Amino acid sequence: MSQLSDFHRERIRAILDVSVLMPVITIKHPDEAVPLCQALFDGGIRVMEITLRTEHGAKAIKDVRAALPDAWVGAGTVTCLAQYRQAEAAGAQFIITPGITESLLEFSLTSEAPLLPGISTASELMLGYCLGYREFKFFPADVAGGIPALKAFRGPFPDVTFCPTGGIRRDTAGDYLVLSNVQTVGGSWLTPEELVTNKDWAGIECLAAASLSDLSC
Ligand code: 3PG
Repeated sequence: MSQLSDFHRERIRAILDVSVLMPVITIKHPDEAVPLCQALFDGGIRVMEITLRTEHGAKAIKDVRAALPDAWVGAGTVTCLAQYRQAEAAGAQFIITPGITESLLEFSLTSEAPLLPGISTASELMLGYCLGYREFKFFPADVAGGIPALKAFRGPFPDVTFCPTGGIRRDTAGDYLVLSNVQTVGGSWLTPEELVTNKDWAGIECLAAASLSDLSC
């Protein structure tokens, strides 16, 4: 099998470098996507993961790419090749998977959009590591060992950087970000259902800005 290209690796590193926070966004109503992401952007968020968990995900990626050309917009919860292709067609600039499969890894090596593969064990990490991956999503972070697990990964994998997600909240994000092998943390706490349902875009903007401010960014 071929190896991860420098372009893909540098693109993922650059995306993680841009923001310490990555909201995990699930769109339940198509007209919410642009105002919600605009509010996050106005609050200082520059990298967003829009999941394909609903039928509106791909269209939301397309709409948000058009509305926010200065944001990095990726597709999340990509679990099969059909979704990878769908996300690329919608304009996703990067792809995030909750776990890895050999077919997704193989496809990602020649895909247009680079992959941030999800792992929760050393064995899964090694599948990507052998192909040249050094950046991984760690999911579900909280129940897969959390901070102690990330500290333990530093021994065998000192050159790997993680974006943990799953169970991380505003008050625990900073505890993850002080780890030397954590660049960015992700989560859905930046888009609480109550604020989204009420179309409280000012509230979303404030929450994003306050969460970044907590982290002194
Ligand atoms: C993800 O896909 O990264 C998670 O569903 C986010 O987890 P959270 O909802 O606990 O933040």
